[in-house]
Amino acid sequence: MPNIAFISPKGGAGKTTAALLLALGLAERGARVALIDSDPNKPLVRWGGLPGRPDGVTVHAAPTVPDIREAAAEARRLSPDWVIVDTEGSVRGAMVFAALRFDAVVTPLTGSQMDAVEAIKASELVASFGKRQGNDLPYACLMSRVPAALKPRSLGAVVAQLKARGIEILPTPLIEKEAFRALFEVGGGLSGLEAQGVGGVAAARANVAAYVNAIQALVTPAPALRRAG
Ligand SMILES: Nc1ncnc2c1ncn2[C@@H]1O[C@H](COP(=O)(O)OP(=O)(O)OP(=O)(O)O)[C@@H](O)[C@H]1O
Ligand SMILES: [Mg+2]
Repeated sequence: MPNIAFISPKGGAGKTTAALLLALGLAERGARVALIDSDPNKPLVRWGGLPGRPDGVTVHAAPTVPDIREAAAEARRLSPDWVIVDTEGSVRGAMVFAALRFDAVVTPLTGSQMDAVEAIKASELVASFGKRQGNDLPYACLMSRVPAALKPRSLGAVVAQLKARGIEILPTPLIEKEAFRALFEVGGGLSGLEAQGVGGVAAARANVAAYVNAIQALVTPAPALRRAG
């Protein structure tokens, strides 16, 4: 049962969207997913209160850090296949490390220089917590809200900076999509959006499928290389 956290000290980088899309994409493949909402603004709790929440996805509120353990215990009682933790967009978000052990951590960021600086800080924080846990915590950045049509120049500069520091970047970015915003207004999953007149749902679904594959690869340890002969 992988425990995965979305962390970025910078607000609005796309954590909550990335957490929900992962939960929805996994649930479409038949997984049971517990979402722990540890943002005091409770965006996922609010989504969970809208109609259409898939049966495989549950939401557990943890408005303060001490609540996280209890929310995780409540989630585990449902024996989910995945636990996904969304955190608040400030340095306080990293306090989740004090409450839970993780199998992977992801920092979403847009292609802006300010996001890049914060993502580098987040990666350093995650590395130090990973060492304290006695393992190399799988960690990657996720480019989010990337325009579908043209790649802005600043995006290339941001990617280059992260790569220069040896920070892994998930091979699939999350595209800027109205469908991803609409989920928080309409509720439910992507499949219900077309009936609500939301466009671009097929492309959004394809993006989510590729993103879920990338996360699965991040949490799956690479098979040991077999010796030839
Ligand atoms: N891929 C996307 N396509 C379209 N809109 C997006 C996308 N990702 C995020 N957004 C929008 O950008 C805003 C910020 O995204 P989100 O709430 O996911 O970020 P966050 O990192 O969780 O923010 P916070 O730090 O405030 O918790 C929201 O209005 C959201 O709907
Ligand atoms: Mg959020």
